Amino acid sequence: MRKKIIAGNWKMNKTFQEAEELISDLLKHLEAHSLEDDKEILICPPSPYLELATDLAQGRKLKVGAQNVNANDFGAYTGEISAPMLKSMEVNYCIVGHSERRKYYHETDESVADKINALLKNEIIAVYCCGETLEERESNKQFDVVGKQIEKALSHLTSEQLKQIVIAYEPVWAIGTGKNASPEQAQEMHAYIRKQISGKFSKDAAEEMSILYGGSCNSKNAKSLFSNPDVDGGLIGGASLDADEFFKIVKSMD
Ligand code: 13P
Repeated sequence: MRKKIIAGNWKMNKTFQEAEELISDLLKHLEAHSLEDDKEILICPPSPYLELATDLAQGRKLKVGAQNVNANDFGAYTGEISAPMLKSMEVNYCIVGHSERRKYYHETDESVADKINALLKNEIIAVYCCGETLEERESNKQFDVVGKQIEKALSHLTSEQLKQIVIAYEPVWAIGTGKNASPEQAQEMHAYIRKQISGKFSKDAAEEMSILYGGSCNSKNAKSLFSNPDVDGGLIGGASLDADEFFKIVKSMD
């Protein structure tokens, strides 16, 4: 079943106390909100707060994801966090391949493919981020770029494994800029991604795949973005840091 997902990527924001307050406020909103089985609400706080988040979210309408994972299960990798560690904290999802990690930490689709494998082994859903830069869009290379990213990071998977993957299309030029992709641009790229998945895997796999949009998504533009047939929700950065604003985005899925 294809799911509609609203995911908050907090990035490197909030103190422990602020995180606790934000999660509690969000849970209060969600308490009174009815959520169908095909909808999921997810927060991805910084890793030191994951256990707090999974504790607070237990038995509630909220899932928890990490923002990164190391491809190794354990060992001498100072500062890193592994998929078995995430699993032991009952983390359900993990973002991989975010453009900020590609830019600042030199992640590539090859290293992201290894991270995806580690997540799959531990039954954690990978939220695979892809998207073109402004320069690439201006030279009309966006489909080529995104097509290649998906090919490199996902083509080794089986159709069965692909069910454990969510794709987030996040054009780099839209992230944190206040300049979101238009609903038409988002739909066009999401339809392209679904077609790629259909061609490389199967029509069923493509139909089941949730493809989220990310990049300056907020309560004002969410509805017009999510009302497109191939846009199955959003990966929200800045607007997920405020419980009221994030909940408004959640409601725009209704
Ligand atoms: P913004 O919503 O702040 O543009 O960030 C999007 C993003 O990078 C989510 O992963």
